[in-house]
Amino acid sequence: MPEYLPTAPYRGTRDFLPAEMSVRTQVFEHLYRVIESYGYQRYDGPILESAEIYEAKSGQELADQQLYTLTDRGGRRLALRPEMTPSVARMIAGNAGSLQFPVRWYSHPNCHRYERPQRGRVREHWQINVDIFGSESANCEIELFELVHDIMGALGATEDMFVVRANDRTLLSSALSDVVGVTGEQLLQVFSLVDRWEKYDREKLAADAAEIGLTDKQFERLGETLTAGTALLDELPAAVREASHLVEVLNSDAGRLVKFDPMIVRGLAYYTGTVFEVYDTSPENNRALFGGGRYSDLAGLFTPKEIPGIGFAFGDVTLIDFLTTHDLLPKPRNEFDVAVIPVVAELGGAARSVASALRRAGLRTSSPLEHRKLGKELTRADKAGAKVVVIVGQEDWDAGNVTVRSLATRDQRTVPAAEAADAVTRLLTG
Ligand code: HAM
Repeated sequence: MPEYLPTAPYRGTRDFLPAEMSVRTQVFEHLYRVIESYGYQRYDGPILESAEIYEAKSGQELADQQLYTLTDRGGRRLALRPEMTPSVARMIAGNAGSLQFPVRWYSHPNCHRYERPQRGRVREHWQINVDIFGSESANCEIELFELVHDIMGALGATEDMFVVRANDRTLLSSALSDVVGVTGEQLLQVFSLVDRWEKYDREKLAADAAEIGLTDKQFERLGETLTAGTALLDELPAAVREASHLVEVLNSDAGRLVKFDPMIVRGLAYYTGTVFEVYDTSPENNRALFGGGRYSDLAGLFTPKEIPGIGFAFGDVTLIDFLTTHDLLPKPRNEFDVAVIPVVAELGGAARSVASALRRAGLRTSSPLEHRKLGKELTRADKAGAKVVVIVGQEDWDAGNVTVRSLATRDQRTVPAAEAADAVTRLLTG
């Protein structure tokens, strides 16, 4: 017995067969249009990057535990991109001289992270990234929050199905030092603890807090701080509040778009201000659908110019889980709308010429690659979801005609071959 290789894809990666791909394409193309309606332009970049660009600022979890790295034949240390933000910061920095800021860009890359596959987490996922570069205005936050709501609305989601939870790292830092008494050296470790707050049980959190050097009292105070909601804002120095973009947003009309939540900190190290995540209100999908925030100096890895950035990304896995849970997934598209079927093999060329006229008229049309009996081809067309067939029979063809039949109503008529496209269109729309 020959040994066959496995047909399953590598653990944590997925094959997308056409029916699934059709659903995904419909969802994503719809979202591209929503994003483009705000004037964002699409870009792309390489899947391979120098490993350093993640090691510098993305943070420990991503860089140390989740990065797929390799060394090329020239000895360069590379990584499969785990996210797009360092790449786009590199592109913006490299092209800053010719760009008109503020820049609004979006992309749809696949990203790789070595994670334990589980609900909402895989090793290769696709993310739609949306970012603004070169503006320090709180209007960026407002625009992105509006866009998040428009994206969710375009998917058919209602406001009760999701929540945008937002925080500002400057507020959190101030709360941690002024209210909890966290020192400057402990800050990043406490951020990481906060990021795990909802994923771990209390005992594990307490043990981790003790390891960082927090007392029991501080740990308790930390818990209270993270669940204080907007009441926490009153405990912070006025100067900190006044400098916060998020507070500005909360005090404006756009405050309705987000919920202030001191527990949102985000796992990536480069965020400097506003941070936010979007969650499904349905408890089975407990992973964030979107994550993002403001990063003032990521472009500083590549250029002395100061180019602040702010943006978010949302992944395909959590999005499709969300749409499945709320029954919002579109149906797969049919394979084609029309089949042109020759009754005898000799009419294969005639059928091809009719099919090509139909395609020129904008109709998605298939004609058989191999000759089979009419009945078999009709069944195949029906299974493929075709709505109309054009039958090319010898007698008809000799008279310059074809037969056009609706598979739904069985309505059938013989028309001049030159008018087949019009007749098919009438059946498809009628
Ligand atoms: P992130 O939170 O690491 O942020 O990822 C963004 C989104 O990508 C998540 O909310 C989730 O939907 C999806 N995602 C991430 N990792 C996985 C995984 N292993 N499996 C499935 N889905 C996943 C970033 O990547 C930032 N670069 C986003 C950003 C853009 N910040 C500013 N601009």
